[in-house]
Amino acid sequence: MRKNLSLLVLFIALIEFPTWSATAFEDEKTERKVEQLLQKMTLEEKLGQMNQLNPHRVISKDFVERIRRGEVGSLLNIVDTESINKLQKVAVEESRLGIPLLIARDVIHGFKTIFPIPLGQAASFKPELIKTAARVAATEATETGIRWTFAPMLDIARDARWGRIAESFGEDPYLVGVLGKAMVKGFQGDNLANTNSVAACVKHFIGYGAAEGGRDYNSTYIPTHLLKNVYLPPFHESIQAGAATLMTAFNDNDGIPCSGNSYLLKDVLRKEWNFKGMIVSDWTSVSEMIPHGFAANEKEAARIAANAGVEMEMVSETYITHLKELIMEGVVKEEVVDEAVRNILRLKFRLGLFKNPYTDLPSKTCFYASSHLEIAREIAAESAILLKNSNEILPLSRKLEIAVIGPMAHAPHDQMGTWVFDGEQEHTVTPLDALKGEFSDVSFRFEPTLICSRDTNKINFQKAIKAVSKSDVAVLFLGEESILSGEAHALSNINLMGVQSELLKTIKEKTGKPVVLVIMAGRPLTIERDLPYADAVLYNFHPGTMGGPAIWDLLFGKTNPSGNLPVTFVKETGQIPMYYNHTNTGRPAPDKVGSINEIPLGQKQSSLGNTSFYLDSGNQPLFPFGFGLSYTDFEYSELEISDDRMKAGDTIRVSIKVKNKGRMSGAETVQLYIGDKTASITRPVKELKGFKKIYLNPGEKTNVSFAITLKELSFYRHDSTWGAEPGIFNVWIGPDSEQGLRKQFSLYL
Ligand code: GLC
Repeated sequence: MRKNLSLLVLFIALIEFPTWSATAFEDEKTERKVEQLLQKMTLEEKLGQMNQLNPHRVISKDFVERIRRGEVGSLLNIVDTESINKLQKVAVEESRLGIPLLIARDVIHGFKTIFPIPLGQAASFKPELIKTAARVAATEATETGIRWTFAPMLDIARDARWGRIAESFGEDPYLVGVLGKAMVKGFQGDNLANTNSVAACVKHFIGYGAAEGGRDYNSTYIPTHLLKNVYLPPFHESIQAGAATLMTAFNDNDGIPCSGNSYLLKDVLRKEWNFKGMIVSDWTSVSEMIPHGFAANEKEAARIAANAGVEMEMVSETYITHLKELIMEGVVKEEVVDEAVRNILRLKFRLGLFKNPYTDLPSKTCFYASSHLEIAREIAAESAILLKNSNEILPLSRKLEIAVIGPMAHAPHDQMGTWVFDGEQEHTVTPLDALKGEFSDVSFRFEPTLICSRDTNKINFQKAIKAVSKSDVAVLFLGEESILSGEAHALSNINLMGVQSELLKTIKEKTGKPVVLVIMAGRPLTIERDLPYADAVLYNFHPGTMGGPAIWDLLFGKTNPSGNLPVTFVKETGQIPMYYNHTNTGRPAPDKVGSINEIPLGQKQSSLGNTSFYLDSGNQPLFPFGFGLSYTDFEYSELEISDDRMKAGDTIRVSIKVKNKGRMSGAETVQLYIGDKTASITRPVKELKGFKKIYLNPGEKTNVSFAITLKELSFYRHDSTWGAEPGIFNVWIGPDSEQGLRKQFSLYL
C-alpha cells in the first residue's frame, strides 16, 4: 500500500510540478539512499569509505581482505579492467554492505589519445575544443572502468621554474576559470551516471603554483585578498559548473598546510561556496603534515585533516588507522565522519556505481579512434604559438628541400608531455613520422644530431651542417624532454638545455640558410639568445599524439597559426616572477629603460629617477601574455564605448572593428582587458575580462563587442568584502596584453 502511495505521490509530483526538474527529484532519491545506507554502516565501514589506496603499494593478500571487510572506498592507478572487476566483485558481492569501489586515475590531457598538455590547450583559447578533448578522454578512460580523474588542475602558474606549469592553464585567473569549467564539463558530460562520464577533481586547493622559488611542494605566502582575487576564482567557477570533487594541495600557505586548513575547506568551500562535492587529499598530503611540522604524528595528522574537512585520504592510511580511536576519545566527532561518508556515497550513487559497478571488457575500439586523433590534431594546431616569422619565411612551400634537424623531430615519448600514464608512444605521430607518411611528397633529409634535449655531444654537428647546406631550409626541432617538466621537476635555469642553442647558432652561422625553429617543451623557456638565429619560431607546449601532422599543417600553411600565450615568456630566469596582471608599484619603470652598458664608469649612487626594473634585462618580458602571431594581419580599429559614465546596474558595451588585411584566412583571439586606476587596494594594471576567437577570410571585417557590468569591475577588498569602487577605469581591446586600443570610463556609485 505504502509503495503505491509513494508512486502516486511521485506521479502527481511529476505531473503537477513539471518545473520540478528531474534532477531535483533524482537528488531527493539519492539523498534518501545515502541516508538509509549510512544508517546501516558500522564505524569501521564508514572509515573504509574514506580510504583510497594504490594497489601497487599494497600488494598483499590482506589487501583483498580489506576490501572484503569494507575498509577500502577507492583505488587509484589500476587500469586493468579484469582486475578492477575482480576487486569490485569482492566489494560488491562479498563485503557486508556491497558498497562499490570508486576507481580513479590521473587522466590529465588524454587517456590513450593524448592531447597537448594543459598549458598547450590553454594556448588555443578554445574552451569548446578543450571540452571536446576532455569528453574524448573520459570516453576512452571509462572503457577500462575508471570513473574519477584528478583533473583539471586550476593552479595559477606564474613561475616557469615550476615543473607543473605544464599541467596548468597558465597565469591568468579569468582564462583558467573559463578553461577549467570547460574541462570539468567535458569530463563529467551531461550526467555523471552516464557510463562514459568521469567525476572531475579540481586541484590543487590552494595556491600550489606559487611555491617559493618554483620548487615543487614548497611553501606559499599568499595573503587572503590575493587568494580571493587571483587563486580562488577559477575553483569557484568550476564548482559552480558542477565539479564533483576537489583535491587539497601539498603546500602550506601562510603557515597552514592546505590539507589541514579548515578556513579554506570549511569557511570558503562549504560555507561561502556551498560546495556539495567530495574533498580528497593529495597523495599522502595528510601524513605529510608531519614533515611540514604541523602534526607530531599520524594520529595528529588524521585529527587535523578530518576536522579541517578532508574526506578521503589518498594513499596514506592515517584515517583507517587512527580515526576510530580519535572518535572514541571525542577529539573527532562521528558527525564529521558521517558528513564525509555522505559525500562519498552520494558521488558513488551519482556515478551510478551501485547500479552498474562492473565494466564490460573494453572493446578498445574507441582507443585512438580516427575521430579522436582528428580532435588531437586540431587542438594541437590551435595550441601552437607563432612567436616569430621574419620576412614571412612561413608558410613553407612543400616543394622545398627541408633539412629536419634536432632531437624533438622524432621523440614519440617526449612529444606527449608530462602526466601520460596510458598513452602509448607507438601511436605518437612525430614530425618525422608525418613526413614519411602523409607528407611523403615533401623532400627532406633528417639529422637528429642530438640524442635528447640534455645531450652535450657535438660530434654530429657537422652532419647537421652538411644536411642543411644541401637543403633550401632548415627546420630545427628542439625543446625539452617531457620528464624535465611536470611534478617535482623544477629548473633553476630554463634556457634550452645541452648544446641545443649552440646547434641552432652553428647551423645559422655556418650555412646562412633560412632556419625555422620548432620548440616542444613543458614550460615557457628563455629563448631570447636563440631568436637571432631563427627566422621563424613556432612554440608547442608538448603537443601530444598528433603533434607531428599538426606542426606540418602549420608550417606548410594548411592551417594558419592562431595560438596565444597563456603565460608570460621571460627573457631571463632571473626575471621570474613576471606576469602581465601585476601591480603598478609606486615607481613603475618607463617603457624604455637604459641598458646596463650605458652606465658610466664610476657612476655615483643617486636616488633620483629610480624605478622598478632590472639593470641587465629591463622590466619587459620577451613575449607578453596573450601574444601570438599569424600568417595574416589583423587590423584593430574604431574602439567604441557605449558610455564613458557607468552607474551601478549599468551595462556598458565596448566594441572594436577587426579586419583581416592579409592574404590568408585565419583565427584571431580578440582580448578585453580592464584596469582599475585607483582602489582601496593596489590593483593589477590590467586584467583579462573577456576573449573571443574569431575567424576572418582575407579582406573580411567584423565587429567584436563585450559587455562590462559591475561584476567585471568588482574585487575582494582587504576586509574580504566584494564589490566595485567608484573611479576611473581603463579598457583595452587588442591582440595581446600589451597591444590594444584604449578607452577610459568612470564608475559612479
Ligand atoms: C600526485 C599529484 C596529484 C595527483 C595525485 C595522484 O602527487 O600531486 O596532482 O592527482 O598525486 O596521482
